[in-house]
Amino acid sequence: MFKTEICDILGIEYPIILGGMIWVGRSELVAAVSDAGGLGLLGAGGMSIPEIEQDLEEVRQKTRKPFGVNIPLVRPDAEDLIQASIQAGASVISTSAGSPKRYTQKIKDQGVKTIHVAFNVAGARKSAEAGVDVVVVEGFEAGGHNGVDEMTTMAMVPQAVREVDVPVVAAGGICDGKGFVAALALGAKGVQMGTRFIATHESAPHPNVKEAVLNVKDNGTCITGRTLAGPTRAVKNKLSEMILEAEKQGTSPEELLEMIGEGRSIKACVEGDCDEGTVYCGQIGGCVDTIKSAREVIEETIAEARTIIEGLQPMVRA
Ligand SMILES: Cc1cc2nc3c(=O)[nH]c(=O)nc-3n(C[C@H](O)[C@H](O)[C@H](O)COP(=O)(O)O)c2cc1C
Repeated sequence: MFKTEICDILGIEYPIILGGMIWVGRSELVAAVSDAGGLGLLGAGGMSIPEIEQDLEEVRQKTRKPFGVNIPLVRPDAEDLIQASIQAGASVISTSAGSPKRYTQKIKDQGVKTIHVAFNVAGARKSAEAGVDVVVVEGFEAGGHNGVDEMTTMAMVPQAVREVDVPVVAAGGICDGKGFVAALALGAKGVQMGTRFIATHESAPHPNVKEAVLNVKDNGTCITGRTLAGPTRAVKNKLSEMILEAEKQGTSPEELLEMIGEGRSIKACVEGDCDEGTVYCGQIGGCVDTIKSAREVIEETIAEARTIIEGLQPMVRA
């Protein structure tokens, strides 16, 4: 047990959330995280309704603990995905990439908890005003889609905590007990991790993707898409070099989109092509060097956090 108020809100034992991850967070990982006492979120961004239903059925067969679904609101069928997820047993809906305003009350009316992922303090405030139960603030260190403001987790969490009266969860740059304790010290009530959970036995992507995350160094990721609406952080590779070069040359957003094309993330995660596919990964990938079970990630994070907190006590007393 390591209880904060989000444990009561979400019905979990440890305040650790598996961030929704497209092509990565499928039924096995979701069930493993939830069963270990965290909150597993299905990364439903690229999934159809029948696929979501199938995955959630599998999750329900593997665990009786609460689980949720992450739905990026850029999906035109977001509302249908939300309803299908709730009907298939999700007790938490996490939304991202859009405004939660239109959806929040309808979700809460069905007795389901809501989380929204924000990239700056204004986004956190708007999420709170929309009535969400928990706000995740995700720093620019994170893997996947990033905010245009380039806010870091370290600077954003305390400002978001000061600004909103719902519990804040920190995301971006956290993979162990050190990051967990730091997040709590900044005022967060829990953490959301993505990159750490890619390198688990239960995560869905091709083994080459897990290997790429294990091999990444501190400066081994980069942001592309700054000239587009949505910058993303991924492992530096042939594709990212090509995109960065094109952006430097002033290639138009339309041409860039055409060049990047559809499905670069599928190319890596499903086909295993980590040169020409996108391997989303956060800066903390430099600390991730072993494949573990999701349960080990959670239990080791909590054990390390306890040791760190106990180790700090003598300094306070001195
Ligand atoms: C491979 C990958 C895919 C991701 N896909 C999504 C997604 O579909 N929806 C979303 O809200 N966030 C997505 N994210 C962000 C994660 O949910 C999480 O907030 C982030 O990874 C936390 O930062 P970290 O990578 O430093 O742990 C993704 C991140 C990664 C690494």
